[in-house]
Amino acid sequence: MNKYHTVCQTSEIADPGKQTFEIDDSIVVVFHLHGSFYCIDDVCTHDGGPLGDGELTGNCIACPRHGAKFDIQNGQAMTMPATEDTKSHDVKIDGDHLLVRLNDA
Ligand code: FES
Repeated sequence: MNKYHTVCQTSEIADPGKQTFEIDDSIVVVFHLHGSFYCIDDVCTHDGGPLGDGELTGNCIACPRHGAKFDIQNGQAMTMPATEDTKSHDVKIDGDHLLVRLNDA
């Protein structure tokens, strides 16, 4: 079972906003949207584009390379050219701190 890692303070990410973090050997993006936080891999499943550099519109992040859109809430691939979901990770808040637990699956 992976453990939770403290990544930042909740106030450090604007709402709406996003920030990229490295946890162990993974790079993930944490999103803040309408008071909730979400975390997905910083990896587009089409060709590895850095999703954290993409444009956030509502609950969609658009890959900066070829424009595939993913749902930040669960990593679901929403538009071509991506056909596979990217990984989502667990987020929790402890006081002022934001914690992320990597999912292996
Ligand atoms: S690498 Fe993301 S859409 Fe192609």
